[in-house]
Amino acid sequence: AAENGLNAWLRYAPLPRGTYSHVSLPSDIIALNSSQTSPVYTAGQELAKGFEGIFGKHVSVSHKASKASSCLVVGTIDEYEKSYGKLKNAPELKDDGYWLSNKGSTIQILGQNERGALYGAFQYLSMLAQGDFSKVAYASSPATAARWVNQWDNMDGSIERGYGGASIFFSNGLVVDDLTRAGDYARILASIGVNTVVVNNVNANVTTLSTENIKGLGRIADVFRPYGVQLGLSLNFAAPNTSGTAIPPIGTYDPLDPKVVAWWTNMTELIYDAVPDMAGYLVKADSEGQPGPLVYNRTLSDGANLFARPLQPHGGIVMFRAFVYNLLNESDWKADRAKAAVDFFKDLDGKFEDNVVIQIKFGPIDFQVREPTSPLFANLFKTPTAIELEVAQEYLGQQCHLVYLPPLWKTVLDFDLRVQNKPSLVRNIISGERFNHKLGGTVAVVNVGTNTTWLGSHLAMSNLYAFGRLAWNADQDPQDILQDWIRLTFNGNPTVVDSITQMSMESWPAYENYSGNLGIQTLTDILFNHYGPRAASQELNGYAQWTRADHDSVGMDRTLKNGTGYSRQYPDEIYNMYENIDTTPDNLLLWFHHVNWTHQLHSGKTVIQHFYDAHYDGSNMAQTFVPTWETLKGKIDNERYNDVLFRQTYQAGHSLVWRDSIVNYFHNMTSIPDKHGRVGNH
Ligand code: GCU
Repeated sequence: AAENGLNAWLRYAPLPRGTYSHVSLPSDIIALNSSQTSPVYTAGQELAKGFEGIFGKHVSVSHKASKASSCLVVGTIDEYEKSYGKLKNAPELKDDGYWLSNKGSTIQILGQNERGALYGAFQYLSMLAQGDFSKVAYASSPATAARWVNQWDNMDGSIERGYGGASIFFSNGLVVDDLTRAGDYARILASIGVNTVVVNNVNANVTTLSTENIKGLGRIADVFRPYGVQLGLSLNFAAPNTSGTAIPPIGTYDPLDPKVVAWWTNMTELIYDAVPDMAGYLVKADSEGQPGPLVYNRTLSDGANLFARPLQPHGGIVMFRAFVYNLLNESDWKADRAKAAVDFFKDLDGKFEDNVVIQIKFGPIDFQVREPTSPLFANLFKTPTAIELEVAQEYLGQQCHLVYLPPLWKTVLDFDLRVQNKPSLVRNIISGERFNHKLGGTVAVVNVGTNTTWLGSHLAMSNLYAFGRLAWNADQDPQDILQDWIRLTFNGNPTVVDSITQMSMESWPAYENYSGNLGIQTLTDILFNHYGPRAASQELNGYAQWTRADHDSVGMDRTLKNGTGYSRQYPDEIYNMYENIDTTPDNLLLWFHHVNWTHQLHSGKTVIQHFYDAHYDGSNMAQTFVPTWETLKGKIDNERYNDVLFRQTYQAGHSLVWRDSIVNYFHNMTSIPDKHGRVGNH
């Protein structure tokens, strides 16, 4: 039964017999590559597994082109043309794209490259598994070239902000012997078009680069390769000055010192010897105690270029993180961590090597329940960018609360930054389209572990699934994606689809309502584990996630006229919208403005009454998830039914803890009564 979790949405559960009696299935699969490490070979095996599972039909796989009708051919366009002759109307495909066409039992799944062919096979299987036998002839290419997941795995096997068990890659300082789960992970990632896994934590341990571990990385890459998934590596900037790596320390890590350049060049060669198709590096530098170029008075671009140059001959890229900030002093009304990324990176635009991508968290702080779009996306024109999302629900209930994240992500992906007063949707900036870059990326911190549900919760997997779908094409509806996931993960019973849709679509609004509303970021415990309510933890420390709440008023003034001036980091139209309290949407009011608790919102409510009401509404909503889930009894397997029921019951209770903690805290602070008399009378 663990298979239900491990296979995620790739279950290929049998369809009810009557539903496909009219469909003619292919009698053979021809996969145009016989090498077992090739994604095309994998595609053949996967298709056979799918036919077996979904229809109970054994279809054999061969690797030689034949003209027989009623067969499914999968391969690259090039290989196909070698055997079958020039295609007349082959579409233009980008890297990793595919072209799918089916007519009765004759099916062609052709990729621009091998990986594209595998993606096409997964797409076709997804249709079949959902009982969709429509005739298709369409081409699809990914919007962003780099579709990466980041694992924050430590060498000792723990995972920073991981809620699904220990690492599937590392244990006791070494790469684990049994990499079965790593291969399984690559399979589910390939099925959603993810092409790279950064396997180690951004707070990187240098011993990942020991001689033995570099060999181990080679083994990880070997199990990824049949799925077209590449390995990426987080680096520790100070590695040349630290013992424990394959190359002895040299006493400095100054990025402009020729010895350091040579050290990284040699290290990069060693890594490519073991992992010839490595995708590249991920670098967190000068952030939260991590070493970086600023230590030597060098620039962040000097730091990024240090890694970019040795990667160039190998086609690798550097994902350089924009998450750089300093601790600040709360007594300074103008201090603002939200400004840090633009302050650090804006002037470096144009100074990066061509294979550097700046990886930017979706908002300017840190994966909060609601943030405005990071203004850095509107301040880099010559440098490609990637958006960083977080599937791991760090501040968002840590997989113990159901929070379906794509509606939150879409507020950023679809946000129009109006650069030079022209349409500038974030999704068109990261795809490279808006500023003409070939590179660009969509990245998520995922943090799966050894738990058989991967993330620690069955329902949380909708976020991983949707991440991949949106990285491929961000112009999709979160609810449509969700429903594909439900049908594949559970089944197509209308009650199942409707109930899980309802809960999931209500889950982010519910969580926002009971955890942190009106753009106050979060009221969770930011000092310890980022879990549960602790409103006071925002204050009196340098993390600058201040609410600035007191007896009379609340909110960060980020206007230019009277506050931190953060609003001015946006292009004119957006700046004007946020600078002016009348045009600032309620849901970001306290992000941009400091107001009295009795200030009236656009909704007509006062701020404090909104707080009270939202906390009751949100927790009431979370209570309804239990009976909604209970409608599924007998309609899905008992094991997953019970597991999720337990979690939803917990969430219902914990949402009350949230509600009471927050409303009492602000009631005590303001002494303003709740209009409905619910707060403070007990
Ligand atoms: C958050 C998170 C850290 C992480 C950091 C990062 O602050 O809590 O665990 O290291 O982000 O993204 O680098």
